[in-house]
Formats: sequence, structure tokens, C-alpha cells
Amino acid sequence: MLQKFPAFAGVPGPVVVIVMDGYGIPKHDVGSAIDAARKPTLDRLFAQYPNIRLRAHGTAVGMPSDDDMGNSEVGHNAIGAGQVYAQGAALVANAIAEGAIWQGGAWKEIVAGAKAGRGVLHFIGLFSDGNVHSHIDHLKAMVVQAKAEGVKTVRIHALLDGRDVPETSALEYVAPFEAFLRDISTGGFDARIASGGGRQYITMDRYDANWPMVERGWHTHVLGEGPQFANATEAVHGLRERNPGTIDQDLPEFVIADNGKPIGTIEDGDSVVFYNFRGDRAIEITRAFVEEHFTEFDRVRTPRVTYAGMLQYDGDLQLPKRFLVAPPAIKDTSAEWFSKSGLAQFACSETQKFGHVTYFWNGNRSNKFEGETWQEVPSDVVPFEQRPWMKAAEITDAMIAALQSGQYKVLRCNYANGDMVGHTGNFRAATMAIEAVDLALSRLLPAIDAAGGVALITADHGNADEMFELDKKTKQPAQNKDGSFKAKTAHTLNPVPLILYDNVSGGRLGLAQTDTAGLSSIAATVANLLGLQKHEKWDDSVLTVK
Ligand code: 3PG
Ligand code: CO
Repeated sequence: MLQKFPAFAGVPGPVVVIVMDGYGIPKHDVGSAIDAARKPTLDRLFAQYPNIRLRAHGTAVGMPSDDDMGNSEVGHNAIGAGQVYAQGAALVANAIAEGAIWQGGAWKEIVAGAKAGRGVLHFIGLFSDGNVHSHIDHLKAMVVQAKAEGVKTVRIHALLDGRDVPETSALEYVAPFEAFLRDISTGGFDARIASGGGRQYITMDRYDANWPMVERGWHTHVLGEGPQFANATEAVHGLRERNPGTIDQDLPEFVIADNGKPIGTIEDGDSVVFYNFRGDRAIEITRAFVEEHFTEFDRVRTPRVTYAGMLQYDGDLQLPKRFLVAPPAIKDTSAEWFSKSGLAQFACSETQKFGHVTYFWNGNRSNKFEGETWQEVPSDVVPFEQRPWMKAAEITDAMIAALQSGQYKVLRCNYANGDMVGHTGNFRAATMAIEAVDLALSRLLPAIDAAGGVALITADHGNADEMFELDKKTKQPAQNKDGSFKAKTAHTLNPVPLILYDNVSGGRLGLAQTDTAGLSSIAATVANLLGLQKHEKWDDSVLTVK
């Protein structure tokens, strides 16, 4: 049980944490869909309620450096755990730098497995330096090591990004990498990109939102089905010609073939490494490889392979069993300790962010703690620039019902809009996304008042706050040749707000802006609002009490 907090007995009603995904505080108003949005509720909150800025990127959320933007995994981990752990990006980079990864049993089995079979090692993963799900440098290091250890053939299945990196940057990664592979393919070693496609079109679905994406990926990587090209550089050119205006993340699949024969189908006896370190978009394809009785789609042919994830993606499900680097051991999360303190908790989002407020929040675990209720609102399967309101209204309905039930003392929700629409690069749609969240808040806040509760309104990282790429030199929005702005689809490095919506303490409560205030300050702040002390492992609260 958490101890009583001497300075404050706790609010009469519930404490609600509202995550506005992708809502950062921009440096410039040019290119900010948040500035452009009409958002009377948020304007009123910022003007009338205590609010501070929280760090949401870089080392403040466990990324290797402060040049790394935040993302939903590390953001929700930090919010939910109240602690900052060295995250996948940093753990893998260190394991490679120190060579520990090659000493581990999983890497040895991968190499031995490939050598015992046809000698083929496959790498599947996100092909960029975004450092959100993967980093291309990790792939490079593994190719070099595979050669050194006598693997004969490497085949890479490259998921084009354009979502954590500029939207049409694929060739900046593919062309130099193919040159590197050509250079290293000597002495009987043969390494090539064998298949790929846009990450939002094949393979990298999450939270069971769209299994046909994974099925398309399986057909591409494993069965070698799809439009054929001589190499990946030609494939990117060819697909762009055939699909004008389509950005990298949405490009269709491609297969590399010699004389009509795919060069990298996955066969019995091969080894396969899924080299993303982040779990949400790795779990479904991993299940397709490792589950014996798999019913999500017809695999047609199921090669017997030695399979490893870069990390273990789900600690409760132990998925996958074989992994190259141990994930951060996230312990003593807020949901665990609120549960141990006997508090009923409610978590809600729509499919696209459902795992963020449950699985990431609870330290990459898919099981509930006692007293937790999770509610998922099914997301539409559409390009979100076509429906920027997404399921904000339905999430609000569910939250209001949960508040009115009187059953819950701690509630949390995630509005996906600012992020999911921000990732499309569509400025106009992103302003509507923010307006949808504002409207949702205008309905949710009165229900919190009626329950005698308070809310902490925040975000996991920025996105809609910068919808145009900035010119590296001038720091002004970069322009295309035709004078239009270059759309930016990725997250930002900006801080996020923390607003205390409190109509119950009579002005006793406030928020302290400290240098260290970050996403990991939220768990302790919630505890104090509940009249409880933080767990000793959690970072400090930012609540002030008069
Ligand atoms: C994605 O997976 O959609 C992006 O790479 C990161 O977005 P998220 O961290 O907001 O989920
Ligand atoms: Co995002």
C-alpha cells in the first residue's frame, strides 16, 4: 500500500489523466496545427488553470540522446511507471557497442540455426534511423557480424518508413545501404534487400487493428509474392512512378527477383530476426512466425525457422521466447501500486492507442492488475486524414459512463487524434483533429466536476505542433520547389503541457515548474492528488499544496 500523503488528504472524487497524443508546445506558430485549431476549451484551460511544461523527449524518457524525439512507447512507459528506464533504442545500441549482443544465447542460436540449414539469415524491420521502432545502424552491425561468423546469405526485408523520418526519404536509406551490401558481399558472402513495402501498408500493424496488413507482409517476405524489381532502389523509384503522391509509409509491397525468381523467400531451416526493438508493431508478425496454431490469417506455408525478436515484446506473453537484447525491466508501475492500494482503475482509448494506455502504461505487459478495467473503442480502418475526429466522441462517452458509474478512483484515457492525424502530414486534417479533442474535453470536464474529481491533461510527445519540416539552417519551414511547405509526419522534440483541472480544492493545489519536470513526474502527482505518497522509485511529484 502507498502511504498517506500528509500535506493533502486527497480530492473527494476521482483523478483522471487525459493524454492528448501528439500535442506538443511548438516553438513557431507557422506549421502548428495546434495554433491553427479553434480550441476554446484548451484556451480556457491554459488561461485559467495551473499548467506547466513537461519534458517528453530524449534522455528525459530514456532515449539515447536529446536529439531523439519522444514517442508513445517511451512516453506512456514514463507516465505509467513514474520512472525513466534506458529504453530499447539505448539498450540495443549499448549491447552492440559492448559486443554483449553477440555473446548472448539468442544470437548464437540464430547464427547456428542459419548455418545448420541453407545458410540463410533474414532480417525484417523498419528501415530508417528514426530510432522509434528500430535503427538501421543496428541492422548494419548485425550484417557485418553475420559475415564474420560465417553466415553465407543475408536477406533483408525492408519496411519503408516516412513516418518517424521525412515522408519521402526512403532512398536516403535504401541507396547507401544497397551500396554497403554490395561492398560487403565478397568471399562467398551474399547480402541483399529481398523484399519490402510501406510500413503502414504491410507487416507493422498494431493492436489487432488491421491483420490484412500483416497478411500482405507475410505474402511479401515469406512467400515472395508481389511486383518484382531488380533491387530495392529501383523498387522505390518504380513504386513511386506507379503511385504518384503516395508517401513512403503507404507504398505497396515489392519483391526483388532474379530472372523472375524471388531472391529471399523464407524457407525451412532459415533464421529470422525481427530487428525492431519496439513491441507494439512487432507482436502480430512475431505471432505469425512463432505460433503453431495460428488463425489470424492463412499462412499458406509455414517455414520452420529459428526466430528472434530484437527485444522481448511482451513480458506477460513471453513473446517472442528468443530475443537478442533483454528489454527494460519496468517494475513498480503506478497501476500496480494503485491496485495494491485498493483503488479501482479505468483505462480507455480507441484501438490505435489502446495498448498505449494499457500495455505500455503498465510496462509492456498485457495483463491487468487487480481492480483495473480496460475499455477499447474500435478504431476505423481508414486513412485518418479522412476522419480526423477519429473516436474522440466515443472515448468521451465511455469515460463519462465510467465516471458516472462511481466505480473508479483513477481513470486514464488517450485521444489519438493529434498524433495519428499528425502522422499523415495533412495540416488541415490535423487542425480538425485538435478541434475534435477540444470538443471532447468540453464534454468530459463537466462529468469530472460532477464526480468531484480533478484531471491532469497532458500529452506523450509532440506531433501536430509541427506539421512542416523546418529548414536545418534557417529553422523556418522548408519549402518544396513549387513554394509549398514540406509536410512533416514525424513527432517533435517539443515539451508537452501538464494542466491541472481542479475545481474542488478551492485554489489550494498548483503545479511547480521545475527543470526536471517530465512525463515521469505524473505518477507521483496523481498519487498526491489521491492523498497518497509516491512510491519511492517514482520521480518527484510536481503538485504544490497551499
Ligand atoms: C507509429 O508507430 O505510428 C510511429 O512510429 C510512432 O508513433 P507513436 O509513438 O505515437 O505510436
Ligand atoms: Co505517433
